[in-house]
Amino acid sequence: MQHEKIRGDFEFFSHSDLIYLDSASTAQKPRVVLEAMEEYNTHYCANIHRSAHGLGNKATSAYESARKTVASFLHVKDVSEVVFTKGVTEGINLVAHSFVREHAQCVIISSLEHHSNILPWQQVKKPLHVIKTKENLEPDLEHFEALLAQNPSAFVSLIHTSNAFGITHPMKEMIALAHQYGAKVLVDAAQSAAHLPLSVDELGADFLVISGHKLYGPTGVGALYIKKELHPFCSPYQVGGGAIAQVFFEHTEYLPIPYMYESGTPNIAGVIGFGAALEYVQNVGFTTIKEHEKNIISYALKRLGEIEDVVFYAKPSSSQSSISFNILGIHHHDLGILLDKQKVQVRVGHHCAQPTMRLLGIEGTVRLSIGIYTNQADIDGFIKALKRAISMLKG
Ligand code: ALA
Repeated sequence: MQHEKIRGDFEFFSHSDLIYLDSASTAQKPRVVLEAMEEYNTHYCANIHRSAHGLGNKATSAYESARKTVASFLHVKDVSEVVFTKGVTEGINLVAHSFVREHAQCVIISSLEHHSNILPWQQVKKPLHVIKTKENLEPDLEHFEALLAQNPSAFVSLIHTSNAFGITHPMKEMIALAHQYGAKVLVDAAQSAAHLPLSVDELGADFLVISGHKLYGPTGVGALYIKKELHPFCSPYQVGGGAIAQVFFEHTEYLPIPYMYESGTPNIAGVIGFGAALEYVQNVGFTTIKEHEKNIISYALKRLGEIEDVVFYAKPSSSQSSISFNILGIHHHDLGILLDKQKVQVRVGHHCAQPTMRLLGIEGTVRLSIGIYTNQADIDGFIKALKRAISMLKG
């Protein structure tokens, strides 16, 4: 019953007959998010942090209230540790240019990183060391420790939950290990934040990035957590109006973080919608989310068991929010096309993780990914369409 109400909060499902199993790519948005953005755009649209007038103050206060919501969502104690960004990709680029460029010699990443956690380090010319995986794509922690020992001024950047294979790294343990060797750690929580409760304090993260649109919020907005004690070591990035205390023709004095990183007029409606999305997730609660998603993934795995020749690359687990697989002898793109023709939306391909696919000797997979609105009927529809697609392709 509660789940039907949750699904009813997402208008997409009352307007569409599609089966949406691509929430890892982007999630549908509940009505409260759309309304919060509409309310700003129609009733109090004004710029923030610049105006003395009442409308500007109202917009500023809604924007800063969203920052408090992000802080509470991530269990951040000091709101100045929360920087608004365009999303995870911009957050990682920011850390690469403003911190890692000067303060690290190399970067240690896992074998499961998506391109956004590879390219920014290459861009600042830091050699990458890649943690080997064991069976089932779990990280080889002994190899990780050896890399940390061999590279005393390394930075560590890790995907929390793999977008391509759904497995979650033992992040608390990996951060503690990195800290023993003096390495700072960035957690890419793009895929975990919607599915499990996050606490930067408990994890011990130095930097953490999330994207609004995977958390039922709008696209083009996200947040970066930067531990307060690292603020003095972070330099300006993408500078301009809004980031400054005083500007002279000769030099500039910057505002402290987070404002130093929020120059220009930001995505105000997006930030307000992001705040509304996080409040929505908090109201549903992670106990409900985890229980529901576990049931749906268990059911999907059980039903996939009816299909022959399914290949998984990580150990299938009900604690995941996505399942990645191939069918022996069939190209994932062919399946994607035939699933789409039957109104099933899944992602097929390399999932922006080409090096991982290369390690596995494959080009890509079919990935189904769920959200708090996914129900058993979606999975039944997917399995029916998959069986039909396979029978068409295998003749
Ligand atoms: N990172 C997103 C995905 O995995 C786009 O689909």
